[in-house]
Amino acid sequence: MAREFTSVGVVGLGTMGAGIVEVFARNGIDVVAVEISAAAVERGRATLTGSTDRAVAKGKLAEADRDALLARIDWQVGLDALHSVDLVIEAVPEHLDLKQRIFAELDRVCKPEAILATNTSSLSVTEISVATTRPNQVIGIHFFNPAPVMKLVEVVRTVVTSADVVADVEALCERLGKVDVTISDRAGFIANALLFGYLNHAVSMFESRYATREDIDAAMKLGCGLPMGPLALMDLIGLDTAYEILDTMYRRGGRDRRHAPVPLIKQMVTAGLLGRKSGRGFYTYERPGSPVVVPDEHTPVTTGAALADGARAIAKVGIVGSGTMATGIIEVFAKAGYEVISVTRGAEKSAKVCEAVKTSLNKGVVRGKLSETDRDAALGRVTWSATLDHLADVDLVVEAVVEELSVKKALFASLDEICKPGVVLATTTSSLPVIDVAMATQRPADVIGLHFFNPAPIMPLVEIVQTIRTSAETSATARAVCAALGKTGVVCGDRSGFIVNALLFPYLNDAVKMLEASYSTADDIDYAMKLGCGYPMGPFELLDVVGLDVSLAIQRELYLELREPGFAPAPLLEHLVTAGYLGRKSGRGFRDHTKR
Ligand SMILES: NC(=O)c1ccc[n+]([C@@H]2O[C@H](COP(=O)([O-])OP(=O)(O)OC[C@H]3O[C@@H](n4cnc5c(N)ncnc54)[C@H](O)[C@@H]3O)[C@@H](O)[C@H]2O)c1
Repeated sequence: MAREFTSVGVVGLGTMGAGIVEVFARNGIDVVAVEISAAAVERGRATLTGSTDRAVAKGKLAEADRDALLARIDWQVGLDALHSVDLVIEAVPEHLDLKQRIFAELDRVCKPEAILATNTSSLSVTEISVATTRPNQVIGIHFFNPAPVMKLVEVVRTVVTSADVVADVEALCERLGKVDVTISDRAGFIANALLFGYLNHAVSMFESRYATREDIDAAMKLGCGLPMGPLALMDLIGLDTAYEILDTMYRRGGRDRRHAPVPLIKQMVTAGLLGRKSGRGFYTYERPGSPVVVPDEHTPVTTGAALADGARAIAKVGIVGSGTMATGIIEVFAKAGYEVISVTRGAEKSAKVCEAVKTSLNKGVVRGKLSETDRDAALGRVTWSATLDHLADVDLVVEAVVEELSVKKALFASLDEICKPGVVLATTTSSLPVIDVAMATQRPADVIGLHFFNPAPIMPLVEIVQTIRTSAETSATARAVCAALGKTGVVCGDRSGFIVNALLFPYLNDAVKMLEASYSTADDIDYAMKLGCGYPMGPFELLDVVGLDVSLAIQRELYLELREPGFAPAPLLEHLVTAGYLGRKSGRGFRDHTKR
């Protein structure tokens, strides 16, 4: 029989603590909520009532249930109030000495059988536990932000945590409607170990002005389906907390440079820009604690007129290639009203592409997303050709041929001879340096990357890749075209992986390394990222969809260009590729897909 928890204590009512109090009180458990001062108690109470009032306003919580929830909470200053609770969860700032002091005090105050838990994200639960005389009753219960919403709880057992305590806490998580993964005591556990390298990398992109905050966040939301971009997430976590977590992970996790906090984070913390809780972080919020972003001096002007500023007029577009991307891109431009010339390497290929575009447009008609008239009009705008010479008077060329530099360079040299002056020449490459392609022409200022995502008609994102020779006019034209296509264009520099792949693949590679180290299972790691961070797919699900060979190739490119030791491809990924386990397409990757 699992132990009954009738009353629990929560210490520290900041970003996490206030949410944890709500989780318990919502599930019928009495809570003693403790802070350091009366003012801090009031802040915590305001956070919680704000959250429950929002739930009532949205119809997710009945007023009577809210009142009952609030009646279960006993707000107190000082740890002495915790003398009779069955379990305490500590959620004070991420400092080992502070937590150790609190645990020593809790050990003195709490009844002997009480379980003492920490919500630490990165500190050693073991080191915290030895500050007490009952380390076998100390455990990590790591909730995710916002605690009332995120389903995951990481239960962290140390080498001395007793099996009963683990089982009792697992049963408690179930009662709270949470999904738990139980793991051992390692820096960052599962989710943060995979998340924080990515967040830090995103901050470094912002710090080095590789892309704007809006573009970095839009890229990850729209390119990967994440619930929020990395910089908005840093603001939600709190920059002071994020700094401490990174710093601890750097020291505990083998001094991986990717966890060394980017200097900008410390500067922002010192300047009081802590994120949502202080009303300003990477973004500016309506008021401290508010989730509503308000415009500030860095907010870009996105109206149509401003977007088109300095852009060339584009009416006729040439699209070169006959693969998946070219097919999708033809559809996108034709639907948006552009006159399109598709160029392939022969009539047979053109017929195939034409058929594929028709099939896709017909699907749109069947789903009621496109009228028959619009479908016919879109098709009527496309001319099918097998000769590059037909591109002599287009305004924009989008190249989507095979991902081989020599082929792309030869093509761009030909386009340079054929196309009229003033044409914008774009490549859809996802991994080659755009500048190499640009330098195959006599007009590198007119060359740019337009990295569409697959499937192009559906994915809302385009990465606009500027080289050091791309002109402002070319860039403005690319931005205006993306807007006219109904896509979000994000502007970035010409570096391996651009924004999305550079941030995504190292995270996937880290997940493989974690599996390889036997820290957790593929299922639990996938759960952790989906339920703890709201990702649409776990890393192993995604790797199997993308293809292990493709993922390995991208990771190798990143490693070769950036020489970051942490980017070295995981040996397990290499072995699986060698063994022909390429993911869904070969029937087996991290999982066996033949059985379903
Ligand atoms: N922010 C996140 O997204 C997140 C997610 C999961 C876990 N965590 C972890 O949760 C813990 C708390 O982080 P946070 O972001 O909520 O921090 P926070 O700074 O928002 O809140 C900490 C609170 O603890 C209070 N406090 C400080 N000393 C205290 C004491 N001696 N007694 C009682 N209260 C005291 C502070 O007044 C403050 O209100 C950290 O260990 C953090 O790593 C944070």
